[in-house]
Amino acid sequence: MKKFLITAMLALPMMAMAGSIKSPNGNIELKFSVDNTGRPVYEMTYKGREVIKPSHLGLELAKDKHASKHLKETDLMDGFTIAKEETSTFDETWKPVWGETATIRNHYNELAATLNQPATKREILIRFRVYDDGIGFRYEFPQQQELIYFLIKEERSEFAMAGDHKAWWLPGDYDTQEQETQETKLSEIRGRMKEAVNWGNSSVAVFSETGVQTSLQMKSDDGLYINIHEAACQDYATMHLELVDAQTKALSTQLGGGSNAYTPNPKPSAYPLPQPFTFVSHLTPDATGLKGAMQTPCETPWRTVMVSDDARDMLSNNLILNLNEPCKIEDTSWIHPTKYCGVWWEMIVGRGSWHYTNDFPSIKLDQIDWSSVKPNGAHKANNENVKRYIDFAAKNGLDEVLVEGWNVGWEDWANMWKRDVFDFVTPYPDFDIKMLNEYAHSKGVKILMHHETSSSSQNYERHIKEAYELMNKYGYDAVKTGYVGDIIPRGDHHYSQSMNNHYLYVIKEAAKHHIMVNSHEATRPTGLCRTWPNLVGGESARGTEYEAFGGNRPDHTCILPFTRLQGGPMDYTPGIFVTKLSEWSNNTSWARITIAGSLALYLTMYSPLQMAADLPENYEKFDDAFQFIRDVACDWDQSIYLEAEPADYITVARKAKGTDNWFIGGKCDENGHKSTIKLDFLDKGKKYDCTIYADAKDAHYETNPQAYVITKKVVSTKDVLKLTEAPGGGFAISLIAK
Ligand code: NOJ
Ligand code: CA
Repeated sequence: MKKFLITAMLALPMMAMAGSIKSPNGNIELKFSVDNTGRPVYEMTYKGREVIKPSHLGLELAKDKHASKHLKETDLMDGFTIAKEETSTFDETWKPVWGETATIRNHYNELAATLNQPATKREILIRFRVYDDGIGFRYEFPQQQELIYFLIKEERSEFAMAGDHKAWWLPGDYDTQEQETQETKLSEIRGRMKEAVNWGNSSVAVFSETGVQTSLQMKSDDGLYINIHEAACQDYATMHLELVDAQTKALSTQLGGGSNAYTPNPKPSAYPLPQPFTFVSHLTPDATGLKGAMQTPCETPWRTVMVSDDARDMLSNNLILNLNEPCKIEDTSWIHPTKYCGVWWEMIVGRGSWHYTNDFPSIKLDQIDWSSVKPNGAHKANNENVKRYIDFAAKNGLDEVLVEGWNVGWEDWANMWKRDVFDFVTPYPDFDIKMLNEYAHSKGVKILMHHETSSSSQNYERHIKEAYELMNKYGYDAVKTGYVGDIIPRGDHHYSQSMNNHYLYVIKEAAKHHIMVNSHEATRPTGLCRTWPNLVGGESARGTEYEAFGGNRPDHTCILPFTRLQGGPMDYTPGIFVTKLSEWSNNTSWARITIAGSLALYLTMYSPLQMAADLPENYEKFDDAFQFIRDVACDWDQSIYLEAEPADYITVARKAKGTDNWFIGGKCDENGHKSTIKLDFLDKGKKYDCTIYADAKDAHYETNPQAYVITKKVVSTKDVLKLTEAPGGGFAISLIAK
């Protein structure tokens, strides 16, 4: 492993200030105590302003039929006394394997409170880490005679908001987060929920009329940006938040079922409801309704609250990565940032198929002789088409070519409750795996593997070793996984403890085989990519594919960096140039973005894995604009967020790793935006060849998306650039040091 420690690690004891601790610069203060019923309580301020009002912490435990002496069921909610409080400070600078910056400082003050529950003779610990831009806390359960195994009925971590903030939220759902973001006041969430859940997806399970997902971005009336999420979610269920509002009678305990409907809560919790405008944690259940099976010693993920009066700090914040454990992969030399294209968009849009034949009502993998099956003529993962993409990648400096639909099983897959869907090793007859990989390698390109599991997770685990050995044999070093449809075994959910364990198992097995992972429809990221940097991307939100399913709102990509991207990079698959899909297919959907806006996404949607998603022939029509995709880096030494406002605009400048070159991207919503960029961050005394890809004066995401202007000039640190972004547009700039 590369050694990431640059400055010395400090763990100095500090003066214990009973139950109160400040961040290193003093802006954030956290207070901790237990109330008169022995319930743990914390509160948080930023520059003296309330962020989290006094809020309870605790867990309700579940009964089990095996009520053995080892399995304890008394709640970890109240009856606590503080046995010990320890404070310390920590300051370390580490180097990510890939990232937005070459180094990351991890600097916090910590308060660790040991709590006794005398009635049960149990002990737990709540650990708070207080940074200048937020806090993290988690529960820790030391191994002890009276707490060996326990089952979680619900975690009850509260986040009491100080006002009726504006929020950018997704309906709380155990299986998907591909919805469009809602923008409302907290008090309006309940009224908006029906409309927000009225959409289609292959797997949906909504749990409450006021349930929302994390990462949840908010803004207070007086300009505080507040974000709630989690870090290092492993061996634990993904957390949602349920808002208590004026109409709440009880917290939800039941799941809503696998449809768009939600079931109001029938079983109230035994504990008093918190005050309105309080979010309460709500974990994803497994097939039996259980939220966690724990064995001490263990701990929960970190619950995070980021705060600032400057929206840009929400984007440059590294709190979630910092709360994850350091890299566990010794040799990371095989992990590399990747630009790729793929046999993909033409299937998503509907001009080709993943499957090979239309001749069977269903298939059984072990009962088909593929060599004698009649092809449907639309199968795109065929030798000729894949070669075309390989040629395109080689010509344009793209590292890899994703090929979907290469393996047998696509004739019938998701949501059939079919367990043995794919074997991940048998190619269709028109995909010559050996020849195509050799062809790609001869041109300096790799093929990017695709494993759609169709959510049959045990089937994938059974085949994973052979599948990864096949990849090693043919020289694949990256896999895109997929979890479309309801989880098999039936009843489980995409974000449960067991599925979270599955995704991590896949990442670890991949690491053993030197394979990078990009998982689609998996749980939302919580910074595990620090520990497992072979997790180079993921979807877990509404991606570009929805531009072919009715479209994404123009402000969508100005929200995602504040929400989905907090936990790790997204494989958004940007780069659509021919936005009216009917120009080349029968699909009447259209992408709500201009070409200059599409280029901007390579900067504003940070990811070490970036796709050029459109068809080679569409890029060839706009080759001068495509030059930016050829040039842009996807790994960085430095990133400076120049402007940001959730759902409105984001402008960022990034310095390409190991070079003196900079790239700048600006993306805006449907209203357009004007940017003034001072180039004072450039190296003094250097001159740069500057190419600006901007929206033309009359560009518009709906009526004139392909109108762009390319300007070239030589600039230095003294220059100021003025740019106008069209509605739904943006700009991209390359600055190559002379
Ligand atoms: C959904 C993924 O997001 C998409 O990229 C993929 O092509 C399909 N599933 C098929 O696996
Ligand atoms: Ca907006």
